[in-house]
Amino acid sequence: MKILLAGGAGFIGSHTAVELLEAGHDVVVVDNYCNSSPRSLERVREITGKDMAVYEADVRDKEAVKNIFDREAVDCVIHFAGLKAVGESVEKPVEYYRNNIDTTLTLLECMKEAGVKRIVFSSSATVYGEENESPYVETMPRGSCSNPYGWTKAMMEQILTDTAHADPDMSVILLRYFNPIGAHESGKIGEDPQGIPNNLMPFVSQTAVGRRDKLTIFGGDYDTPDGTCLRDYIHVMDLANGHLKAVEYAADHKGVEIFNLGTGKPYSVLDIVNTFEKANGVPVPYVIGARRAGDLPSVYADASKAERILGWKTKRDLRDMCVDSWNWQKNNPNGFRDQDQS
Ligand code: NAD
Ligand code: UD1
Repeated sequence: MKILLAGGAGFIGSHTAVELLEAGHDVVVVDNYCNSSPRSLERVREITGKDMAVYEADVRDKEAVKNIFDREAVDCVIHFAGLKAVGESVEKPVEYYRNNIDTTLTLLECMKEAGVKRIVFSSSATVYGEENESPYVETMPRGSCSNPYGWTKAMMEQILTDTAHADPDMSVILLRYFNPIGAHESGKIGEDPQGIPNNLMPFVSQTAVGRRDKLTIFGGDYDTPDGTCLRDYIHVMDLANGHLKAVEYAADHKGVEIFNLGTGKPYSVLDIVNTFEKANGVPVPYVIGARRAGDLPSVYADASKAERILGWKTKRDLRDMCVDSWNWQKNNPNGFRDQDQS
């Protein structure tokens, strides 16, 4: 199959490109590099020894995207292209709605014109909102989100669902990711956030490598076993494999299907810090600080549907996630930027 990865140069997209290429699929990437580097795709070529078509373009630009569909016989789209920083989305809601919704609408318009019927979408556990309790099951109704980023995901799920209802030949797969961390085993690609990381694992690994003085743990007084929040951390290569399974499932599927992609096992912030230190033999200095607004005490998946229907199951444990995150960080202390400047 030929698969178009919109936003394919980013963290999850680049790891998915490796997984798809290694499974023998053809990959086409479109990205404007607003939160990534073309170097990640060079590394994907190094890892796999395979090539892919790459287009630098804004996915909101209909002419540019139409041109890609005219040139490439795309079978399926995976839509990763979006802005994802929760705090920034509160400061700049219009930019978030404009970018995330417009990329989705442009892709759907171009798919319709080109007769492409399958799309896999990067959604988030955040759409379960505050009303539902973990473990989250796909049959729960979406809840209210605590920030504009989360609302864009909920809205895009609705747009994609309505589009599939209007065209019975379409397949829409909504993948709700839990907390992706880790990196490809080679240490050649990984998460490379711009500026101060918002998410836990890049903050931990940047602290370990000396780019940050210390980690602040947001809250030590939650009603959890050690007082810190529980999350469902998933290795990014297991997540990438979930995309491979979803794309292959979509080939014979019509309608809308939602899948949680998580391990189903909750770990605390302190579990992450302790496992990271022990597995890698490096200290991660930390302090316990105030709670962060919008954080829920416990977020984890019921991951049984993806296993039952896609035959997908995670293979890597928390130690693997910590070892691979560190392997990427210590080999690339400044992410892809050192190379970009050379
Ligand atoms: P990322 O920022 O590394 O990747 C997103 C990619 O999309 C980047 O390469 C960026 O340059 C590109 N992009 C953004 N807007 C674009 C546009 N208008 N035109 C072209 N390219 C554009 O993020 P990621 O962690 O790889 O996440 C991928 C997707 O998964 C996002 O939609 C994100 O919201 C979603 N998601 C991520 C997480 C997570 O924890 N990383 C969790 C849940 C959902
Ligand atoms: C966050 C977003 C979620 C989004 C996801 C991926 C919020 C409320 N949720 O999830 O919508 O889909 O990122 O981008 O922002 N932590 C610390 N110190 C830090 C960073 C994090 O203690 O410096 C803690 C957090 O309190 C949380 C856990 O680590 O308990 C994980 O945080 P994070 O990586 O930001 O992910 P989520 O908050 O789960």
